[in-house]
Amino acid sequence: MVSFKYCAVVAIVWIATNIILNVAPILSKSSSSTEEVEALLRTGWWGTTSIPVYNSTSHCEWDGISCNKFGNVIGIDLSPYYLVGELEKLNMSSFPNLLSLDLSYCGLNGNIPHEIGRLSKLNYLRLSYNELTGMLPLSMTNLTQLLVLDISHNSISGSIPTEIGNRMWKLTSLRLSENNLTGRLPPSIGKITQLSILNISSNHITGEIPTSLGLLANLTLLDISHNYISGSIPSSLGLLANLIFLDISHNSINGSIPTEIGRMWKLTSLRLSYNYLTGRLPPCICKITQLFHLDISSNHINGSIPSEIGSLLELNYLDISSNHINGSFPSEIGSLLELNHLDISSNHINGSIPLEIGSLLKLNHLDISSNHISGSIPSEIGSLLKLNHLDISSNHISRSIPSEIGRLLKLIYLNLSHNFISGPVITIPLDYFEYLDVSHNHLSGTIPISFNSTYNWQSIDLSYNDLEGEIPQGFQVRSNSFQELRGNKGLCGSVKGFPPCRKRDRFVHLGTILLVIIIISLAFFILGPVFFYCKKVGKNTKFEERAIKKGNLFSVWNYDGRIVYEDIIKATDNFDIRHCIGTGGYGSVYKAQLPSGEVVALKKLHRLEAEEPAFDRSFKNEVQMLTEIRHRNIVKLYGFCLHNRCMFLIYEYMERGSLFCALRYDDEAMELNWIRRVNTIKGIAHALSYMHHDCNPPIVHRDISSSNILLDSESEAFVSDFGTARRLYPNSSNQTVLAGTFGYIAPELAYTMEVNEKCDVYSFGVVALETLMGRHPGELLLSLASASIQNIMLNDVLDARLPAPERGMISRDVVLAATLTFSCLHSEPKCRPTMLRISQEFLACKYSLTKPLQKISLGQLMNQDICLIK
Ligand SMILES: *[C@@H]1O[C@H](CO)[C@@H](O)[C@H](O)[C@H]1NC(C)=O
Ligand SMILES: *[C@@H]1O[C@H](CO)[C@@H](O)[C@H](O)[C@H]1NC(C)=O
Ligand SMILES: *[C@@H]1O[C@H](CO)[C@@H](O)[C@H](O)[C@H]1NC(C)=O
Ligand SMILES: *[C@@H]1O[C@H](CO)[C@@H](O)[C@H](O)[C@H]1NC(C)=O
Ligand SMILES: *[C@@H]1O[C@H](CO)[C@@H](O)[C@H](O)[C@H]1NC(C)=O
Ligand SMILES: *[C@@H]1O[C@H](CO)[C@@H](O)[C@H](O)[C@H]1NC(C)=O
Ligand SMILES: *[C@@H]1O[C@H](CO)[C@@H](O)[C@H](O)[C@H]1NC(C)=O
Ligand SMILES: *[C@@H]1O[C@H](CO)[C@@H](O)[C@H](O)[C@H]1NC(C)=O
Ligand SMILES: *[C@@H]1O[C@H](CO)[C@@H](O)[C@H](O)[C@H]1NC(C)=O
Ligand SMILES: *[C@@H]1O[C@H](CO)[C@@H](O)[C@H](O)[C@H]1NC(C)=O
Ligand SMILES: *[C@@H]1O[C@H](CO)[C@@H](O)[C@H](O)[C@H]1NC(C)=O
Repeated sequence: MVSFKYCAVVAIVWIATNIILNVAPILSKSSSSTEEVEALLRTGWWGTTSIPVYNSTSHCEWDGISCNKFGNVIGIDLSPYYLVGELEKLNMSSFPNLLSLDLSYCGLNGNIPHEIGRLSKLNYLRLSYNELTGMLPLSMTNLTQLLVLDISHNSISGSIPTEIGNRMWKLTSLRLSENNLTGRLPPSIGKITQLSILNISSNHITGEIPTSLGLLANLTLLDISHNYISGSIPSSLGLLANLIFLDISHNSINGSIPTEIGRMWKLTSLRLSYNYLTGRLPPCICKITQLFHLDISSNHINGSIPSEIGSLLELNYLDISSNHINGSFPSEIGSLLELNHLDISSNHINGSIPLEIGSLLKLNHLDISSNHISGSIPSEIGSLLKLNHLDISSNHISRSIPSEIGRLLKLIYLNLSHNFISGPVITIPLDYFEYLDVSHNHLSGTIPISFNSTYNWQSIDLSYNDLEGEIPQGFQVRSNSFQELRGNKGLCGSVKGFPPCRKRDRFVHLGTILLVIIIISLAFFILGPVFFYCKKVGKNTKFEERAIKKGNLFSVWNYDGRIVYEDIIKATDNFDIRHCIGTGGYGSVYKAQLPSGEVVALKKLHRLEAEEPAFDRSFKNEVQMLTEIRHRNIVKLYGFCLHNRCMFLIYEYMERGSLFCALRYDDEAMELNWIRRVNTIKGIAHALSYMHHDCNPPIVHRDISSSNILLDSESEAFVSDFGTARRLYPNSSNQTVLAGTFGYIAPELAYTMEVNEKCDVYSFGVVALETLMGRHPGELLLSLASASIQNIMLNDVLDARLPAPERGMISRDVVLAATLTFSCLHSEPKCRPTMLRISQEFLACKYSLTKPLQKISLGQLMNQDICLIK
C-alpha cells in the first residue's frame, strides 16, 4: 500500500512537472502555436513515410521546422523530403511568423494557394522542382519582404503579374525558369533595383525586352533564353555594368548587336545564339576582355570576324557558326591561347587556315566546316594534341593530308569530306577513330591493311575518292561496306558491289615484291655492315621487326628508334633517381621530357630483374597486347626497347598518377568529385568492355586494381599494366596460374584456376566500389553475403571527404554506378553481368530515383537492379 501511494504521488508530481514544462509554455505562448501544430499535422507529412522521424513533444523539434524563442514557426525546409501530394495541404493562413519556406524537390502538385499572400513576413520562398500547375496568384505580390523567389521547374502558366515590380521591390533573386509562363516580361521589373539574379528561361514569354531592364544596376545574371521574345536588344542593357552572365539565346530577337554591349566589361558569358540578329559582329565586343564564353551561332550576322578578336585572351569557347560571315579566317585567333572550343562553321569565310592555329594548344573541338576555305591543312595542326573533334568538311581544301595528323592521339572524330584533298589516305592513323569521313575527295593509293573491324569504328566513310587495290579483310565483316567504299573505281575484293581482284593484279603485285626483295638483297650485300652496326646500337628484337612489318606501329611511333633511345637517356640523365616517379611490382617508372617538349612515362626493368624470365615475359606480353589494342581509356604505348641492354616501355604520361594515390591523399581525393569518380568508373567499364567484347580473341586483363588505373590531367581513367593480360583463344586451355593483386582477385580463382572475363568483372567491381568509398572496401567485401549489410545506408558508405552527392543527375549517376558495382561483386561468376552490359547500362540507362539517395540502403541497391532487369 505504502509503495503504491508513493508511486501515485511520484506519478502525479511527474505529470504535473511535465504539464508545467511542456504544456504550460505552449499555453503561455500565443494560441497561434497550437494552430500551427494542427496545421502541420493536417498536412499528414510528419510521422508518415514522408518524414518518418519526428518528435512528438514539441513541433519546433520536428524535422524541417525551426521556431523563434516564442515557439512560433519561422522556417519550414522540407527540401530533403519527398512528400507527394498537394501544396494546398499546408494551410498558409496558419503561419503568420514564417520567414523562410523551402519546399523544393518535394514532388508537390496542385496550385499555389491564394493564402500564400498571408505570409507577409516571408523573406525566402522556394517551390522549385515540383509539379505545380495553375497561375501565379496575384496575392503573391503581397509578399513585399521577399528577397528570394524561386518557382523554377514547375508547370505554372499564365503571365508574370505587373504588380511584381510595383510591390516586391526588395527581391534580389527571381527565378521562374522552366515553366509555362506566357505574356510579356512586365517593364515594372525595372523597379526591383536590388535584383541581382533574373532567370525566366524556358517559358513561352513573348513581346520585347523591356528597356527598363537597364535600370537593374546590380544585375549579375540575366537569363531570358528559350522563349519567344522578339524585337531588338535595347541599348540600355549596356548600363548593366555588373552583369557577368547574359543569355538571350533561342528567342526571335532581330536587329543588330548594339555597340553599348561593349560596356558590360564584367561579362564572362555572352550567349546570343538562335535569334535573327543582323549586321556585323561589333568590334566593341572585343573590349569585354574577361569574356570566357561567346556564342553568337545561328543568326544572320554578316561582315567579317574583327581582327580585334585577338584581345579576348580569356576566351575558352567561341561559336559564331551558322551566320553570313565572310572575309578571311583571321590569324589573330592564334592569340586565344585558352580556347577549348572553336566553331566558325557554316559561314562564307574564305582564305586559308592560318598557321597560327597551331598555338591553340588547349583546343579540343575545332569546326571550320561549310565555308570557302582553301589552301592546305597546315602541318601545325599536329600541335593540337588535345583535339578530339576536327571538322574541315565542305570547303575548298586541296593538297595532301599532313602526316602530323598522326600525332593527334585524342582525335576520335575526323571529317575531311567534300574537299579537294589528294595524296594517300595512309597518312591518317586510321585505326582509332570512332567517326571518320574522308569521302568526296581525291585520295589515292590503297587502303592500309590495318583497316580492321576490331577497332572502335562507329562510322567510317571513304566513298568517292580515287582509292584502288584490294579491299582489306576488315571491311568484309561490315554490313554497310559498299556505302563506305562506293565511288572508288579502282577497288576490288570480296565486298558486294565490287569486282573480285583479277589474277593479273596479283602477278604484278608478286613481281613488285620480287623486285623489292632483289633490291633489298643487293643493298644488304653492299650496305650490310652498316645495317648491322645500326641495328646493334638501336633496338634489335623480333618484336620490333614484327611491329614494323605490321605497319600500324608507325602511327604510334613517331620517332626513329635510335634517336628516341638517345633522347631518353639524355632526358632521364641515364635513368637517374631524380626522374623516378614510382616503383612497381617490378621495375621503376620515370618521367622524361623529350626535346620536342612532349612528356612521356617510361617503365624500365632493372638489370637484375631483366634476367628474370618471368619479368621478361611479362614485359614482352605488355608490348604485344598494347600494340594490338587501342581505346581511349587504355593507356597508349608510344614505343619500347626490348634488348638485354635496355628494357623499357614508353607510354603516354598521366599527370595525376594512379587512382590508388588519387584516393589516398585527401586533397587529391577532394578534387576527384562525384562527377569525376563516376566518369572514372565509366571509363574503366568501357575499356574492359572493349577488351572482352570487341577484341577477337577476347583479352582478359587479370590484374585490375586501383594501382593499375591511371588518371590524366582531366582525371580521365586509363587502364594500364598489361603484363599479365591474356588472350582467350576459343579452343585452348583456360587453366592458368593465379595472377592479380590481393584484395581484387575474384573468390572463385582460389579453387578453380580458370581464366575468363568474369574475373575482370569482379576486380572491376572492387575498384569501382573503392572509387565510391574512397578506400579499399576490405571488410565490406567479406560481409556482402551476410544479412547485416542490407541495412547499411549507401550514404554512409560513400567517401565522407566529399559532400554528399547533390540532387538530380549526380546522385542518380552515383546510385547507378553503385548498383552496377554491387552486381559485379556477386560471388557466383555466372551471376555477374558482362562488361558489355555494364558499359551499355552506363551509356543508355535512363531512370529516375524514386527516393533521395540518402534514403537508399545497400540491401535496396542489391535487390532492385535499376535497369539490369529489363
Ligand atoms: C526528441 O526528444 C527527446 C526528449 O524528449 C530528445 O532527447 C531527443 O533528442 C529528441 N530527438 C530529436 C531528433 O530531436
Ligand atoms: C486555415 O487556417 C485558418 C486560420 O487558422 C482557418 O480559419 C482555416 O479554416 C484553415 N483552413 C483549412 C482548410 O483548414
Ligand atoms: C504549356 O502550355 C502549352 C501551350 O502554351 C500547352 O499546350 C501545354 O499543355 C502546357 N503545359 C502544361 C503542363 O500546362
Ligand atoms: C548593389 O549592391 C551593393 C553591394 O554589392 C549595394 O551596396 C548597393 O546598395 C546595391 N545597389 C542597389 C541599387 O541595390
Ligand atoms: C536559368 O534556369 C535554367 C533552368 O532552370 C538553368 O538551366 C540555367 O542554368 C539558369 N541560368 C543561369 C545563368 O543560372
Ligand atoms: C524586328 O521584328 C519586328 C517584328 O517582330 C519588326 O516590326 C521590326 O521591324 C524588326 N526589326 C528589324 C530591325 O528587322
Ligand atoms: C549586312 O546586313 C545588313 C542588314 O541585314 C545590310 O544592311 C548590310 O548591307 C549587310 N552588310 C554586308 C557587308 O553585306
Ligand atoms: C563580304 O560580302 C559583302 C557583300 O556580299 C561584300 O561587299 C564584301 O566585299 C565581302 N567582304 C569580304 C572581305 O569578302
Ligand atoms: C575572299 O573573298 C573576297 C570577295 O568575297 C575576295 O575579294 C577575296 O580576294 C577573297 N580572298 C581570298 C583569299 O580568296
Ligand atoms: C585485324 O588485323 C590483325 C592484324 O592487323 C589481323 O591479325 C586480324 O586477323 C584482323 N582481323 C580481321 C577481322 O580482319
Ligand atoms: C574452360 O575449359 C573447359 C574445357 O576446355 C570448359 O569445359 C569450361 O567451360 C571452360 N570454362 C570457361 C569459363 O570458359
